Amino acid sequence: MLLKGKRGLIMGVANDKSIGWAIAKSCREQGADLAFSYQGEIFEKRVRPLAESIGCGFVIDCDASKEDSIASCFDIIKTRWDSIDFIIHAIAFSNKDELRGRYVDTSFDNFCLTMNVSCYSLTCISRYAAPLMTRSNGESGNGSGSIVTLSYYGAEKAMPNYNVMGVAKAALECSVRYLAADLGQDSIRVNTISAGPVRTLAASGISDFRVMLDWAGKNAPLRRNISADEIAKTAVYLVSDLSSGVTGEVIHVDSGYHAIGMRYTYEDGAK
Ligand SMILES: NC(=O)c1ccc[n+]([C@@H]2O[C@H](COP(=O)([O-])OP(=O)(O)OC[C@H]3O[C@@H](n4cnc5c(N)ncnc54)[C@H](O)[C@@H]3O)[C@@H](O)[C@H]2O)c1
Repeated sequence: MLLKGKRGLIMGVANDKSIGWAIAKSCREQGADLAFSYQGEIFEKRVRPLAESIGCGFVIDCDASKEDSIASCFDIIKTRWDSIDFIIHAIAFSNKDELRGRYVDTSFDNFCLTMNVSCYSLTCISRYAAPLMTRSNGESGNGSGSIVTLSYYGAEKAMPNYNVMGVAKAALECSVRYLAADLGQDSIRVNTISAGPVRTLAASGISDFRVMLDWAGKNAPLRRNISADEIAKTAVYLVSDLSSGVTGEVIHVDSGYHAIGMRYTYEDGAK
């Protein structure tokens, strides 16, 4: 049990297809005690039964676009827990009308909305989480704190239709490095998983997502797409003490897609 005695907050479960849910299940299997945050009543109806199904009924409303909502989420956590060991930030949002066509047409309002929900929220959440990851005597919780967020290759290279979300993910990955620098002195680690495409609610907002999935599955070194469970295994590593020396990192869980520049074919016909 890699996470026995650890407490974590999972932020960003929409349904049982969510990457956050796969991570939650894996963390629970490794013995973690979990709280979940959800975005408003509609999501509560889906998140509460999922959380209860793995014996973790601690669910909290949190709109990650609003600092007062994040503050109140952590106030509620403090009523039950005196410390927290890890946060999974699996939150992103953009107007789907702008996850199609050309990036140059991005509106100011949606640029700000996307950056706020998908990038700034990590910084704000880290600010409220950090004091709970460091006990009042200055010692960190059970080992060290760990904050993990989710990114995508569109942060590094332009990808059709990903548009403003790619810009937000680039800023998110950069935020991870700055947060790692700030919080390292409190033994808090901050890392990103850059995941290959997975069918989820958020993914369904990206135009031609099926094409992205198909392309990555055919061309990545492993010649297949990844599963949410594979992302979850890396998340368990990042929130466990196995990764105690790792911070400010972007770990790709994408069948190796980021490592190649062009599709490989071989003279002997091997694909
Ligand atoms: N699905 C993929 O192919 C893929 C690939 C790489 C990275 N990611 C990232 O993984 C993370 C999880 O996404 P997912 O694919 O599991 O989709 P998902 O739709 O299941 O999860 C996205 C979550 O973000 C939450 N959210 C959006 N706006 C919010 C707000 N204002 N306040 C609180 N929560 C809010 C939603 O409620 C939802 O739970 C996202 O950061 C996404 O960009 C996804």
